[in-house]
Amino acid sequence: MEHKKLFIPGPVDVRPEVLEAFSTPMIGHRSKEATELQKRISEKLQKVFYTDNQILLSTSSGLGLMEAAMRSLTTKKVAVFSIGAFGNKWADIAKRNNIPYDLIEIDWGDPVTPEIVEEYLSSGEYDVFTCQHNETSTGVTNPLKEIAKVKEKYPDVMWLVDAVSAAAGIKAEIDNWGIDFFLASTQKALGLPPGFSVAAVSDKAFKHAENVKYRGRYFDILLIKKYVDKKPYQYVSTPSLPHMFALDKQLDYIIDEEGIENRFARHKKLRDITHQWIKDNGFEFFAKKGYRSATVSTVKNNREIPVLELKEKMAERGYAMAPGYGKLKTETFRIAHMADRQVDELEEYLDALTEEIEKL
Ligand SMILES: Cc1ncc(COP(=O)(O)O)c(C=O)c1O
Repeated sequence: MEHKKLFIPGPVDVRPEVLEAFSTPMIGHRSKEATELQKRISEKLQKVFYTDNQILLSTSSGLGLMEAAMRSLTTKKVAVFSIGAFGNKWADIAKRNNIPYDLIEIDWGDPVTPEIVEEYLSSGEYDVFTCQHNETSTGVTNPLKEIAKVKEKYPDVMWLVDAVSAAAGIKAEIDNWGIDFFLASTQKALGLPPGFSVAAVSDKAFKHAENVKYRGRYFDILLIKKYVDKKPYQYVSTPSLPHMFALDKQLDYIIDEEGIENRFARHKKLRDITHQWIKDNGFEFFAKKGYRSATVSTVKNNREIPVLELKEKMAERGYAMAPGYGKLKTETFRIAHMADRQVDELEEYLDALTEEIEKL
């Protein structure tokens, strides 16, 4: 199969050294080596996420941890602040688990404002609220730092953040902002293959979970924590050790070779280059100014180009291009600039995109 360079917002291209780590000879999941591996990964993730909170590793994609968080933490009702297709998934999880929730839908392209969060939390109806750090369908990054100021007034309300398409690409200060459950998948800005996810969970959240009687089994955060605490650093069931070998390697690269802050700065640079391309090519932004993502840009198709045809043409040139997501399929298209993508690669892609658009 000929490899297409991935400019879709995940999965992303994975560095060869990281792919190689997947073929590390296997170890026992109850071995000392497994404990050390899991402990090392947790300590490194704490650095990348600016947190002392407990790290939980999950052999599931990110959606699994979203379900784990909501199911383990809701005693009353969840306020789901949704700014797009992925935000709505929190509501779907609540519905399917028979968890009471209100879905607060913000116009697509806009962020959740601290004022809206305040309006709902002040009702006292909710013990949990959710939002995305970055909404992959609209290319909007929520103002978590400002939302954190509201959350500070409601210390007993649990804040769940889906950072699937942000983590390791857009900075989040979990402890400073008081996020109780922060989760990410590996196949986006972390730069690994899919099938694994990670979370940082506050002590308060673990305490809160004690009030929830039925938390399921695979995703019960207290059962997971019990193993991590007691074994120590082991998991309830056999985890994806290959993902762990690879994550360990990639975190060394992020922390020691590239540097965490440099990684965030590179993502901003890639975003700025993409923004210039959007303007130079007569397109408009779908996301509101001031909230445009550093990992994925959603381009408004104001030129009404045949997006799906463009996708085919780009595929013939060896690139995987992302149309819009869901209801935005042809109204927008997306340019991902995340993980280990470099400036020259993005520029090459954007040049190819310009040429193919001119030929349409
Ligand atoms: C913002 C966001 N949340 C959640 C998900 C679901 O993550 P996963 O596919 O790892 O379950 C995605 C996937 O694209 C996403 O972009």
